[in-house]
Amino acid sequence: MRFPAPGHFRSAADFAAHLQTLSPDWQIDAHVPAGGALAQPITVHGRTLSNRFACHPMEGWDGTADGRASELTLRRWRNFGRSGASLVWGGEAFAVQHDGRANERQLYLDPNVDAAATMAQLLMALRAGSAEAGMQPSDQFVGLQLTHSGRFSRPEGPPAPLLAHHHPQLALKYPHTADAHLLSDAELEGLGDNYVKAARLAHQAGFDFVDVKSCHGYLLHELLGARTREGSYGGDLAGRTRLFERIVAGIRSECPGLHIGVRLSLADVIPFEKDPDSGLGRGMACDLPYVHGFGVDSQGPTKVDLTEPLQLLRRYEELGIELVNVTLGSPYYNPHLQRPAAYPPSDGYQTPADPLLFVKAHLDVVRAAKQASPNLKFVGTGYTYLQEWLGNVAQYEVRNGHVDFVGLGRMLLSYPELPRDVIAGTAVQRKRICRTFSDCTTGPRNGMISGCFPLDPFYKAMPEAKKIKALRDGAK
Ligand SMILES: Cc1cc2nc3c(=O)[nH]c(=O)nc-3n(C[C@H](O)[C@H](O)[C@H](O)COP(=O)(O)O)c2cc1C
Ligand code: SF4
Repeated sequence: MRFPAPGHFRSAADFAAHLQTLSPDWQIDAHVPAGGALAQPITVHGRTLSNRFACHPMEGWDGTADGRASELTLRRWRNFGRSGASLVWGGEAFAVQHDGRANERQLYLDPNVDAAATMAQLLMALRAGSAEAGMQPSDQFVGLQLTHSGRFSRPEGPPAPLLAHHHPQLALKYPHTADAHLLSDAELEGLGDNYVKAARLAHQAGFDFVDVKSCHGYLLHELLGARTREGSYGGDLAGRTRLFERIVAGIRSECPGLHIGVRLSLADVIPFEKDPDSGLGRGMACDLPYVHGFGVDSQGPTKVDLTEPLQLLRRYEELGIELVNVTLGSPYYNPHLQRPAAYPPSDGYQTPADPLLFVKAHLDVVRAAKQASPNLKFVGTGYTYLQEWLGNVAQYEVRNGHVDFVGLGRMLLSYPELPRDVIAGTAVQRKRICRTFSDCTTGPRNGMISGCFPLDPFYKAMPEAKKIKALRDGAK
């Protein structure tokens, strides 16, 4: 089933009318002038930043075997700098130990390698890009995203899952995880210590903050749903956040002056699967109550429930955390929600409804979070699919105080300078707009690097571009 893509609408008024057929309360701004709400300053941890764009973390499956950056990695960081976004959230996921890598090319903390040098190189590349955008180093607030991939670990290529808890639907969807190793409390504590080590190096390298990544089905996110786990790190919300709190306390004590942010899957839905007849995604069958997710309605698990997530945000405030990057779900088990797209990745399914409805889900959860915890500074997700009208939607949300920063992922792979063009009030370059072909996800899912193969001339010229297009055509 095809839905009218945002790029199909010729005016903001036409697009706004379409949005209202999907959700009657959905409003956007008609014009995005230079110096509008997206160019308004904001203060974060005492630093005044000059615009409301944030660059989301995006890895490229292109580091070296021992976890250092390659030329491709550095090119991407330079582009993140060139975006002119005042907040650079993590750049990409950096694994705190070898067994927590999501792929064999992911950057990671190898005790035999000078990881601080790698981190400094990333920062230098970013700064070179931001200088091209006319920025000084202090104009961007920059974090490094720290991760352990848990159930989705593949440190040497093939899956090598490490579980926080047993999850019946994920065990069915990924049979290799059914009997995988359940991390012991001692193992969790050991890897928690490596978050602190990685944070210390990031601080030395000059990062302003680290993100204790708690999203997308990776370990700290999976722990948030570990109600059935026994021992200190499961059960009630205090147990399910105990490892996170231990990491935060460790970073506070070892790295005074380093700020902490959290990228959080604020809400989730049950894992989805492909309906073999229609090819559409559908929620997997489960017994009720469904107890294995975080921010999921236990009686209707294709819906969200923000009770616990809003409680967790209050706890972040008590812990002195100011920056929260709100995302939803997981790119593995419900990608239609995590990154709304016109075309699915090769291992996905056709979107079960208009992707704009999933964009709206992102706007709604971050609004609810901002309303509940107005002192926190929130980055929203889900804007890339809006294409030509991204600025109109983003400006409305920021102008009305629903969100503090507009986070961009895929759009910055195809068109890194888009934030600068929007802030300047110049027309966006239509040929460079991400059309959510998902090639940047399909590449890595098939053992290749990631990049914008259809639109970035640098990647377009690579042999992988043709192979990935063939996979996309096959998935249609
Ligand atoms: C190629 C690629 C790599 C990504 N890597 C990460 C990552 O390392 N960490 C993370 O939190 N999210 C990652 N994401 C998710 C993005 O940060 C973002 O949430 C997602 O693309 C939705 O935002 P968008 O609609 O603006 O693209 C990645 C997404 C893509 C497409
Ligand atoms: S490959 Fe390019 S156009 Fe396709 S989703 Fe990724 S960034 Fe967008």
